[in-house]
Amino acid sequence: MKILGIETSCDETAIAIIEAKSSRIEVLSNAISSQVKLHAKFGGVVPNLAAREHAKNIGHVFKTALADAETDIDGIGLISVTRGPGLAPALLTGLTFARTLAWKYDKPIVGVNHLDGHIHSNWLMPIGVKTQNSKLKIQNFGDKIFPALNLIVSGGHTELVLMQDHGKYKIIGETLDDAVGEAFDKVARLLGLGYPGGPQIARLAEQFALNNAGSIRINADTIIKFPRPMIKSKDFNFSYSGLKTSVLYKVRELKENKTKLTDSVVNEICYEFQKAAIEVLVQKTLKAAAQFKTKAVLLSGGVSANKYLREELSKNCAKAGIRYFQPAMEYTGDNATMIACAGYFRYAQIPTTSRNKFSWKSIKMDANLSLS
Ligand code: KG4
Ligand code: ZN
Repeated sequence: MKILGIETSCDETAIAIIEAKSSRIEVLSNAISSQVKLHAKFGGVVPNLAAREHAKNIGHVFKTALADAETDIDGIGLISVTRGPGLAPALLTGLTFARTLAWKYDKPIVGVNHLDGHIHSNWLMPIGVKTQNSKLKIQNFGDKIFPALNLIVSGGHTELVLMQDHGKYKIIGETLDDAVGEAFDKVARLLGLGYPGGPQIARLAEQFALNNAGSIRINADTIIKFPRPMIKSKDFNFSYSGLKTSVLYKVRELKENKTKLTDSVVNEICYEFQKAAIEVLVQKTLKAAAQFKTKAVLLSGGVSANKYLREELSKNCAKAGIRYFQPAMEYTGDNATMIACAGYFRYAQIPTTSRNKFSWKSIKMDANLSLS
């Protein structure tokens, strides 16, 4: 069965086609039109501007996704669309497009949670890759990975989510203020590094590690120190707003002492900030995995592109004897393959006799949709 995924919750207009086979899921196309450059000059995403761009680009992205997959709309068995959480005007554009397709071509349609999508980025094999890499893929649906623990880290979310099965989630911890990706973006902005900040900070942190330890795998010493917020708290919640403020105060203090923010000082700030942010994520994830006796840890969300996070989580899960999975790099950011995949699992769980509820009439947007 071929599934068409549609994602417009933020600043990427994305449409993809995947094919669910008996034992694996194949990505046939993954079309994305990014608005990052447009929003960069505002330092963040402007919702109405995002919606206007989605409306402008979605037809073209749809055509590209079909052409790349060498199929047409008749070959599609299911439409899966993000219905929340996200920016309301942006979500509505994708939802309206998806509902219109479902109505016009009489296709079943399913509305999915954007975070359910991120979780399912772990089930996707990159186009053209045939070999099995245990860290990258849970291709075999029979895999005994449940209960699994998901660490979802993006620009809008930082969540630890227990997964008993596809669609069966329980949030056990989340950020009390800023999301971790948001903290990367805000710190980058105050250092004048541009938007989105995550990749910039990661690059400069790596530079510092290479210059001072010779490798990003070895810890480098820093004079600048930042706190590890809530690392010792008994719950599984996070807080990133204080860490961002610590960076702000450090930058002010350096300026007041007439210390120039040279490249090496900025690199050191990025390194120590990234280390502080990620240490908390890794420690809390491992603690939760032990407490809930989960069989696997799954990383996802835009921040899962961070190499240091991938390495630290992988290393610590191996030490604890827990299976660890991470999405292929091309599926870490917002895309529609993951939405198609989450939709497929929801559809597959429903008995054939009840599938009439997958109608265009029943799909509703919810900008604050929660996983559990
Ligand atoms: O999942 P995503 O593409 O969009 C949301 O749903 O929010 O996540 C975007 C976030 C941004 O905050 C961006 O700075 C962050 O992911 N990000 C990174 C890296 N690449 C993207 N953060 C840290 N290190 C990275 N390499
Ligand atoms: Zn996302």
